[in-house]
Amino acid sequence: MGGGIRVKCCILMGSPRKDGNTSALLKPFMGELAFHGISYDLIRLYEKRIEPCTACRVCQKDWGSFGCRWGDDVPEIFDKVLACDLIVLATPIYSWYCTPPMKSLLDRLVYGMNKYYGDGDEKGPALWAGKRMALLLTCGYRPDKGADLFEEGMKRYCKHSQLEYAGTLAERDLGYRSVFMDSEKERHSREFAQTLMG
Ligand SMILES: Cc1cc2nc3c(=O)[nH]c(=O)nc-3n(C[C@H](O)[C@H](O)[C@H](O)COP(=O)(O)O)c2cc1C
Repeated sequence: MGGGIRVKCCILMGSPRKDGNTSALLKPFMGELAFHGISYDLIRLYEKRIEPCTACRVCQKDWGSFGCRWGDDVPEIFDKVLACDLIVLATPIYSWYCTPPMKSLLDRLVYGMNKYYGDGDEKGPALWAGKRMALLLTCGYRPDKGADLFEEGMKRYCKHSQLEYAGTLAERDLGYRSVFMDSEKERHSREFAQTLMG
């Protein structure tokens, strides 16, 4: 991905806490991208209007674009995702999955991007086929017990959507009375960005 090839990254940030743990873990990651001249969009999902998918399937009639009937902020996010090479889902784990706006967005994208669900016999394309997706997660339990189910879910989501699953960084929060960020987590975050740059 490095080596002079232009890569664009779209970070979908799913924490409601602007200065929380996920934000803190994301900072060195973004610093590393910037250091290597990789441009990125950072989209804070709690600042956007993201309606849940209502399974109307209007988007399935249009194989060339999003085609969703909702006039909220998702069409704009859709365009940014479509314009990038690497999608990064940054979220705290809530009830063993991502937070609600990210879940709503994932539902809107799995239908809007994948034209698999129409009435005809023919299956349509995945408009985002070939893009890479990575996860940057924070959780209260040990990552293998806190972040594992979301990671597994997103691996399946990637396969289904013809995306390439690019890896996960998951770090543990020991509670509100402890300091989340330390030099080791910072190093992990930078190294994770480097791994994704290839
Ligand atoms: C409503 C809620 C649900 C949570 N559910 C889980 C969970 O299922 N598993 C887990 O490991 N941690 C869980 N946590 C802990 C958070 O994932 C953790 O504190 C995270 O670092 C918070 O990130 P933030 O500061 O960016 O919001 C939960 C926290 C909240 C507030």
